[in-house]
Amino acid sequence: NLYLLTCRYYIPQFKPHNRATDVPYMVKVLVAGAAGGIGQPLSLLLKQNLPAGSTLALFDVVNVIGVGEDLSHINTHVKLEVHLGDLKNPSNTTELDKATQNLDLAVIPAGVPRKPGMTRDDLFKVNAGIVKGLVESIAKNSPKALIAIITNPVNSTVPAAAEILKKAGVYDPKRLFGVSTLDIVRAQTFIGQLKGQNPAEVKVHVIGGHSPETMLPILSSVSGISFSEEETSSLSTKIKEAGTAVVNAKDGMGSATLSMAYAGARFALGLVKALNGESGIIEDSYVDTSSTDLGVSFLAVPVEFGKNGIEKIHPLPQMNESEKKQLAELIPIVQKNIDTGLEFAKSA
Ligand code: NAD
Ligand code: LMR
Repeated sequence: NLYLLTCRYYIPQFKPHNRATDVPYMVKVLVAGAAGGIGQPLSLLLKQNLPAGSTLALFDVVNVIGVGEDLSHINTHVKLEVHLGDLKNPSNTTELDKATQNLDLAVIPAGVPRKPGMTRDDLFKVNAGIVKGLVESIAKNSPKALIAIITNPVNSTVPAAAEILKKAGVYDPKRLFGVSTLDIVRAQTFIGQLKGQNPAEVKVHVIGGHSPETMLPILSSVSGISFSEEETSSLSTKIKEAGTAVVNAKDGMGSATLSMAYAGARFALGLVKALNGESGIIEDSYVDTSSTDLGVSFLAVPVEFGKNGIEKIHPLPQMNESEKKQLAELIPIVQKNIDTGLEFAKSA
């Protein structure tokens, strides 16, 4: 069974636990947007891989009852809660408020995807409104939950979420994440393919933001691998434009869903492992960097997970002169994206 073998190989698995010593062990994870292109396979991977005894809550405004019934037949010891929101009256939070009770982690892939010709920024208006409603409910019902936002444009939806959490009086910069893991997954894949190495073992950082103008793959410090100037240039472009390649190939039927679900599961399961006391889990993620000397309040940087979300923001990977210059150039663009998010949340 190739599918299962692949999952077993790539998705972090939980070691057998000793219930007497492992605290807190069981978690409640919400997928908001669970009936969508990302939400369905992400929910499948979480149903398959969350620690036994955990609860997986599914929320969407369409089709989620069927998705929940389908997933409920999978014989893992992960309890499902299924909540259908009110599509005609999105401000009706009755079901959403049930979904957001007692959360350890909320993963948010709810929102509209791109079509060919669009940028991620074109999605902001619609998607910021969706994220706002979800984050307000999480703030009210599970103020200590970790929140991982997949919804684009990540560079702006995450600062908007931070401002919404601030307004609710519960913002903790250690608990809010923008998921840029797909950029690292792609970089690992493309480098592995080019150099004939196992992609899962390629150690590469992608920092900055989640758009071609702000994404910075650090190819000069991939451990054990070096690239010619030509390879660096073509790999960088391929990584930065990979989302658009999927959008164009899907030809109007949305953007990356399966690879994003894989990346989202890797990210969410990493956080859950850290909540359960595992140390040394590091992912690049778009987080609040105002406590650093980077000179910008959000950036994708190497982050170590811990029991309270971010245990530590690690120093940026070593960069060559060209990468340092690119970083300096992208920061003002990220800042503009941040301002878009903050302005929306302040006036909403
Ligand atoms: P999709 O349209 O297939 O699914 C989105 C789901 O969100 C739908 O089921 C929809 O009903 C649901 N939804 C809409 N409003 C909602 C609300 N208020 N509450 C709960 N659910 C709601 O889209 P998709 O392909 O799954 O993509 C979702 C988002 O993820 C898009 O914004 C896309 O750009 C983004 N994305 C981000 C990355 C990344 O790397 N961060 C990668 C791929 C896609
Ligand atoms: C991606 O990188 O695949 C996502 O951000 C979706 C998109 O719009 O490209």
